[in-house]
Amino acid sequence: MVHSLVTGGAGFIGSHLVEALLARGQHVVVLDDLSTGSLANLANIRKHPQLRFIHDSITNTSCLNELLDEADEVYHLAAVVGVRRVLADPEHTVAVNVEPVEAILRRLRARPKPLFLASTSEIYGKNPKTPLAEDDDFVFGPTTRNRWVYACSKAIDEYLALTQHQREGLPVVIGRFFNVAGPRQVGTYGMVLPRFVEQALAGGPLLVHDDGRQVRCFAHVVDVVGAIVKLMACPAAYGRAFNLGSDRPVTIRELAETVIRLVNPAAAIEHVAYEQAFPPGFEDIRYRVPDLTRVRQTIDYRLDHDLETIIRDVLAWKRNSV
Ligand SMILES: NC(=O)c1ccc[n+]([C@@H]2O[C@H](COP(=O)([O-])OP(=O)(O)OC[C@H]3O[C@@H](n4cnc5c(N)ncnc54)[C@H](O)[C@@H]3O)[C@@H](O)[C@H]2O)c1
Repeated sequence: MVHSLVTGGAGFIGSHLVEALLARGQHVVVLDDLSTGSLANLANIRKHPQLRFIHDSITNTSCLNELLDEADEVYHLAAVVGVRRVLADPEHTVAVNVEPVEAILRRLRARPKPLFLASTSEIYGKNPKTPLAEDDDFVFGPTTRNRWVYACSKAIDEYLALTQHQREGLPVVIGRFFNVAGPRQVGTYGMVLPRFVEQALAGGPLLVHDDGRQVRCFAHVVDVVGAIVKLMACPAAYGRAFNLGSDRPVTIRELAETVIRLVNPAAAIEHVAYEQAFPPGFEDIRYRVPDLTRVRQTIDYRLDHDLETIIRDVLAWKRNSV
C-alpha cells in the first residue's frame, strides 16, 4: 500500500486531495498547523482507518523528517496563502514558504521519492501575455511592494526543486495553480469566488475591486486534484512545471453577476478602489489565463466542471456548513 504525506492536507485543496488518495486505497498522513485550514475540512474522512492527522508546523524539521522517511510519496501544499496574510508578514511568508522546502529537498536527497510541489500562477507576476505558458517570463514588481514576496518564495521553491531534479534525478512535479475554487475555500484571506458567494448570501453588496475588468479563469478543485494525481503517476511529468486550472476566461464583474444570478438576484454590485480594499503594497494583475498545452500533452487533462457548477457547489457547501 502506498503511504502518502500531504502537508497542508487540512486546507482547501489539500483536503480534497486527501479524499482522492484515500479513495485510491492509499495510506495518508496529513501534516497541518491549522493556520488557514481546519479539521472541519476533514470531517468526511476524519475516522478513516488509513488517515493519520498530525497537528504541527512544517517548520518543525524533526517532525517533518520523520514523516518524510515514512512516506512513499509527498504532496507539499502547506504555505502562507492569501494576499492579506502575505502583505501583513513578508518575513513569515519566506520562513514558511521557502525554508521547509529546503528541508524537504535535503531529506529527499538521501532518500529520493516522488514529490508534488504546489506553486502558483502568481509567479508570472505582471507578465501581460495571455495565455501564459510555463516557459514565459516572471515579471515582478519592486521589493518595496510586499505583494511580490509570495511569488518570489514560490519561484525559489521551483528553482530548488528543479535543480535537485537536474542534479540528482528527484522525481518532482510542480503544479502552478490558477484560481482553484470549490467547496471549503474561504473568502477570509482574499479569495474572490467564495467572498462573492458569502456577500450574496448576506444580502450584498458584492464588492468588486476597481473596474471589475480583471480577467481570471476558475477551475473546480476536483478537476485540479484529478490532474495532480495523474501527474504524480506519470514519469514524463517529473522535473517539469505545469499550469493547472481552467482556460475559460471571465471578468470579475461577470463573475459577480453570475454569483448574483445563482445565489441572490436581489444583491447589488459595488465597485471599490484598490486603495480602499487593500493595505499599502498591493498591485493587481489584469489578465491571468493559463496556456494548458503542456498538461494536455502529458496527461488526460479533464475540466468536467464549469463556472456555474463551481458556484453552485460552493453555495451548497456554505448552506450545509451553517
Ligand atoms: N487555491 C488556489 O487557487 C491556489 C492558487 C495558487 C497556489 N495555491 C497553492 O496551493 C496550496 C494550497 O492552497 P489552498 O488554496 O488549499 O490554501 P489553504 O490555506 O486552504 O491551504 C494551506 C494549508 O497549509 C496549512 N499550513 C500553512 N502553514 C503551515 C505550516 N507552517 N505548517 C503546516 N501547515 C501549514 C494551512 O493550515 C492550510 O491547511 C498552497 O501552497 C498555495 O500556495 C493555491
